[in-house]
Amino acid sequence: MVHIVSSLLLASLASTFAWADSIMCDANKKCPEKYPCCSQYGQCGTGAFCLGGCDPLQSYSLDSCVAEPVCQSKTYKWDNLDSAALNTKYLGNASASDWVYSGFPKIENGNLILTMPKNSVGTLFANNHYVWYGKITGKVKSSRGKGVVSAFILLSDVKDEIDFEFVGSDLANVQTNYYWQGVLNYNNGGKAPTGTSTFDDWHEYEIDWKPDVITWSVDGAVKRTLTRESTWNETGKRYQFPQTPSRMQLSLWPAGQASNPEGTIQWAGGEIDWNSQDIKEKGYYYAEFGEITVQCYDPPSNSGNGKKSYIFTKDDGLESSVKMTNNDTVLASLGATGLNPNLGASSPSSSSATGNNSVPENRGGSGNEPGASASNGTSGSGSGSGNGNGSSDSGFSQGNNDNGSSNRSNGASSPNEHVMRGSLFAVLVAIVVLVTL
Ligand SMILES: *[C@@H]1O[C@H](CO)[C@@H](O)[C@H](O)[C@H]1NC(C)=O
Ligand SMILES: *[C@@H]1O[C@H](CO)[C@@H](O)[C@H](O)[C@H]1NC(C)=O
Ligand SMILES: *[C@@H]1O[C@H](CO)[C@@H](O)[C@H](O)[C@H]1NC(C)=O
Ligand SMILES: *[C@@H]1O[C@H](CO)[C@@H](O)[C@H](O)[C@H]1NC(C)=O
Ligand SMILES: *[C@@H]1O[C@H](CO)[C@@H](O)[C@H](O)[C@H]1NC(C)=O
Ligand SMILES: *[C@@H]1O[C@H](CO)[C@@H](O)[C@H](O)[C@H]1NC(C)=O
Ligand SMILES: *[C@@H]1O[C@H](CO)[C@@H](O)[C@H](O)[C@H]1NC(C)=O
Ligand SMILES: *[C@@H]1O[C@H](CO)[C@@H](O)[C@H](O)[C@H]1NC(C)=O
Repeated sequence: MVHIVSSLLLASLASTFAWADSIMCDANKKCPEKYPCCSQYGQCGTGAFCLGGCDPLQSYSLDSCVAEPVCQSKTYKWDNLDSAALNTKYLGNASASDWVYSGFPKIENGNLILTMPKNSVGTLFANNHYVWYGKITGKVKSSRGKGVVSAFILLSDVKDEIDFEFVGSDLANVQTNYYWQGVLNYNNGGKAPTGTSTFDDWHEYEIDWKPDVITWSVDGAVKRTLTRESTWNETGKRYQFPQTPSRMQLSLWPAGQASNPEGTIQWAGGEIDWNSQDIKEKGYYYAEFGEITVQCYDPPSNSGNGKKSYIFTKDDGLESSVKMTNNDTVLASLGATGLNPNLGASSPSSSSATGNNSVPENRGGSGNEPGASASNGTSGSGSGSGNGNGSSDSGFSQGNNDNGSSNRSNGASSPNEHVMRGSLFAVLVAIVVLVTL
């Protein structure tokens, strides 16, 4: 009886609790045709939902997401933000914008500063050119403070991921981690000592990603090696090794935000202090990035002759399903999708072309987040949730992570389905417990 009551209650709550305008998606529930693109947060939409972070396996069909711009070898320096587009403006032209961002980046002394003003969800800065094997090298000074996390990662649209993450309560180490298709595995995380402070001193972090091996290096010294061979899953008969085109993401977020799951907060070193020295002196937490270099490797053989973009041709999300094509990567408007890329071409900014659910919000974070659903949160890449200022999990409204200025700055990617699921589930369980008592 209790079980029946609980299940009914759960079911009805789950439907009435559903966020105002959002349609959720996951591996078992693809998006509807009208809002065909499943964002990395597990929500359906058009426009920016179909660009970086759009999961083809959870979208209406494999061609709902826009094709992914191919790798570009390049060294990025920071004289200005001309090559970065706000996520509400970017429509997929990676030649015009190397980067897409939400939040509050700025340039200082030739460095890129990602900031996180009080009660915000920080800044997400993603490269628009996917890497399909390659080496990324970046000079980084991390953020600091408990609950504050910065990251330098590679993340694919089917949630393969390779990470360097900096937890602000431990400035003597950088964390290394990886995921295959977002599967949580608490044995994947590692820690590497950096010699001197990750916050006070510049260190050079490098992820060298080859089809058969990944190395994580700090200041030229290899700290960790992962072979493809070692990731074989005998039951599934597959290598659970990162293997699909991935975007480089730089980010800063409040993993220790009070509204986050306990596991995430613990992983982040505790609850964030919004009256810390950095907040008092500068008005924000911050992470600094110097020169960043991307060196592309050749894609796997037999992956096609296209020159422009990568697409998924099968729904297993494996390397062999990815092909090189000449498909376009650009949408005509925020109402357009991979299925109808030219929609709204005549008036890209008209409201008819930019309906609801056209730019996913940034709820803070970076990639997959084990800490969120872990009961002990001892490892993993963790990440934040919460929208804007920690008003918990009710708000799916967009553009709520700005700091009171009029800019809408929704996350063009980055995650949080686990966190959201986790916190909604916690609320439901609490209510069920109360009711059945
Ligand atoms: C790529 O282009 C081909 C030919 O136009 C089209 O049939 C296919 O749906 C496109 N695929 C994706 C993923 O965009
Ligand atoms: C993309 O941007 C480049 C450089 O600004 C421009 O030359 C090109 O026409 C744009 N392509 C599309 C499809 O808008
Ligand atoms: C807000 O938008 C204005 C105009 O588009 C832009 O100049 C400014 O840099 C933006 N600020 C932030 C924090 O994104
Ligand atoms: C909020 O954003 C505005 C516009 O970008 C900026 O001028 C202001 O300094 C920001 N406030 C904080 C607390 O960072
Ligand atoms: C290995 O594959 C099986 C079958 O798909 C799956 O149930 C299991 O969770 C996988 N193991 C790991 C460690 O991911
Ligand atoms: C957006 O959603 C609201 C409420 O569901 C609806 O009334 C409105 O027509 C929608 N707008 C567009 C452009 O789809
Ligand atoms: C909790 O941590 C222990 C020790 O690190 C680990 O063995 C265990 O798998 C973790 N449990 C969960 C649910 O993460
Ligand atoms: C969140 O922002 C709203 C409106 O700006 C404010 O009223 C509220 O007190 C804030 N909540 C927290 C926890 O800072």
